[in-house]
Amino acid sequence: MTKHLHIKTFGCQMNERDSEIMEQLLAQHGYIAGADAEQADLIILNTCSIRAKAEQKFFSLLGSLRQEKRRRPGLRIAVAGCVAQQEGERIFERMPHVDIVIGTQQIWRLPELLQRLEQGKSKRETACGLDKHFVIPPFQKLLRSTPALPEFRKFVTIMQGCDNYCAYCVVPTTRGREISRPVADILEEAELLVSRGVREITLLGQNVNSYGTTNPVAEQPVSFAELLKMTAAVPGLRRLRFTTSNPQDLSTELMQCFAALPKLCPHFHLPVQAGSNTVLKQMHRKYTRELYLEKVDELRSFRPDIALSTDVIVGFPGETEADFEQTMSLLETVRFHGSFSFKYSDRPNTRSAAFPDKVDEQVKSERLERFQARQDEISLERNRDFLGRSVEVMVEGRSESGVQGRTGSNHIVHFAGPDALQPGDLVMVTINHAGQHSLKGELAAHEK
Ligand code: SAH
Ligand code: SF4
Ligand code: F3S
Repeated sequence: MTKHLHIKTFGCQMNERDSEIMEQLLAQHGYIAGADAEQADLIILNTCSIRAKAEQKFFSLLGSLRQEKRRRPGLRIAVAGCVAQQEGERIFERMPHVDIVIGTQQIWRLPELLQRLEQGKSKRETACGLDKHFVIPPFQKLLRSTPALPEFRKFVTIMQGCDNYCAYCVVPTTRGREISRPVADILEEAELLVSRGVREITLLGQNVNSYGTTNPVAEQPVSFAELLKMTAAVPGLRRLRFTTSNPQDLSTELMQCFAALPKLCPHFHLPVQAGSNTVLKQMHRKYTRELYLEKVDELRSFRPDIALSTDVIVGFPGETEADFEQTMSLLETVRFHGSFSFKYSDRPNTRSAAFPDKVDEQVKSERLERFQARQDEISLERNRDFLGRSVEVMVEGRSESGVQGRTGSNHIVHFAGPDALQPGDLVMVTINHAGQHSLKGELAAHEK
């Protein structure tokens, strides 16, 4: 019998990927994805716990489903992702209308848990084990084969979990120990995607630079730089990206790839988190401000036009005004093209949750505002450097103002273009207007 599935995904691309896997697993058991929550037989909330706000958002949505469950007792509600891993069975206490809580390494068991419920073997199911020897299943076999729209870019997971234990971060406890995916699986997935029309691939992991150094240890471990070269060699692939890197493991071998691999896009997301060495140490980040700046210089020596973006946390416990000034001055020195900045929030099972000297909410908000205001100015100044330049743009789709695309440096570009332009096409655009968050230009010539 056909059943209808509604999946709501919070958080990062890891979760997006897991949602896709669950969707495909369930498709084999008669579930059709894409239903509205009101029509669905099964609702899966795939949750994120990275900041307090993310978790609150999920709990308020889950709370609002209580009515729906009352109205339709046959509805099943499953909670997956990082909050599921973190809270386990406690979710049932707060939210008794939930049927399944499933952890981040257990999504493969979802059909089995549903079946147990259907057969009346239990009233509720939980599967939240985390195994440090977990082997990522060869899920490339499960890739969506008939998407509604042909996809022109995809993320390919290369590792799960994280061993860094930054003092503020839930990921090592919600995703488990760092585990690398076998090279053969990654390349098989990349080749499959490209054969289906994908033109851009982003290799994905919390800590991609240490790829290959963690389970399963291959007989001949492959470094991340080698993996990049192998993926870049997939015929038909036009663009290659990766995320996220940790500055401490950023090798010269990896930086050289930006000079050696034309498909590797000139954009690097390198989270710094803070500019003060005292704060970095408290955060348990294993690099100094000086080392970070050296890495930035070295990267630019290999690819002078590389666009850098970063993540910043303001108001980490103990952060003084002078510490925060160090973050501001680092921003002035590097002049990031863009950044994601967040107010620190305490998270369960993290060390910094127990640190004294919490920074006042008001002070955090002021610092965040100052940082973002200056970043916006710098982004605009940097975007103006594009004026008059002709850049390669990959078409993403249509917007109100015409065609929307993206440069290799990850800048969004709007321009007028013929209807024949399809997502994934590469065109040259001459930039004639620079805004804070995007560029505008004129189409020069295009190849298919
Ligand atoms: N693996 C990546 C980041 C993953 S989490 C890395 O190591 O850089 C994404 C971002 O969320 C982090 O870079 C950090 O800036 C932010 N973040 C993580 N925990 C946080 C917390 N407790 N409070 C505020 N921001 C947090
Ligand atoms: Fe979290 Fe740090 Fe791991 Fe990034 S490197 S996921 S911030 S513990
Ligand atoms: Fe959120 Fe978990 Fe990703 S906490 S950011 S969904 S790894």
